[in-house]
Amino acid sequence: MARLSAENVQRARNLIALYPVPRSALVPILHVAQEQDGWLTPEAVEHVAELLDLTPAQVHGTATFYDMLFLEPVGRHLVSICTNIACMLNGAYELLEHAEEQLGVKAGSTTADGEFTLEEVECIADCGRAPCLAVNWRFFGNVSPGAFDELVDDLRAGGLAGDVPPHGTLCRVRRSVGLEAAAWDRDPE
Ligand code: FES
Repeated sequence: MARLSAENVQRARNLIALYPVPRSALVPILHVAQEQDGWLTPEAVEHVAELLDLTPAQVHGTATFYDMLFLEPVGRHLVSICTNIACMLNGAYELLEHAEEQLGVKAGSTTADGEFTLEEVECIADCGRAPCLAVNWRFFGNVSPGAFDELVDDLRAGGLAGDVPPHGTLCRVRRSVGLEAAAWDRDPE
């Protein structure tokens, strides 16, 4: 696994330039690193620390605080099944049990082929379509066991590649405005 690519180092520098204090860019840069490899490799954590003049322990400490940042490998598809109240009342636990059987792993685990990581999550704000789940943070509602099977088949076959990007990708469309800090004076006289 890798340190940040040259392109991502540049993205990191652009992010750093947006803040008065470089370390304020830590979480956005961690998302860049996670987009690169799907998770935060130890090499990436070290590299981010170098870029921000922090220790790897400081970067690691921040990363462990956030549920969306992963410090161990994640399957190509992170399947997050909500079991909060609205989903629970609409069969979320039955869906979770079905998903565990279908994928052959318990929640919190990754399939042997690295295709799927299954997790149980709290409300993902799609209660009106309960029971629901997210795959790589893209939402699917009214998921019956049959619909889950179809979803898994589609994901395996790459049929949803246009809707569900690889794990780690928050946004496919990079911002083209608002990231220029050149005019900003870091040390006003
Ligand atoms: S309770 Fe499941 S999305 Fe809100």
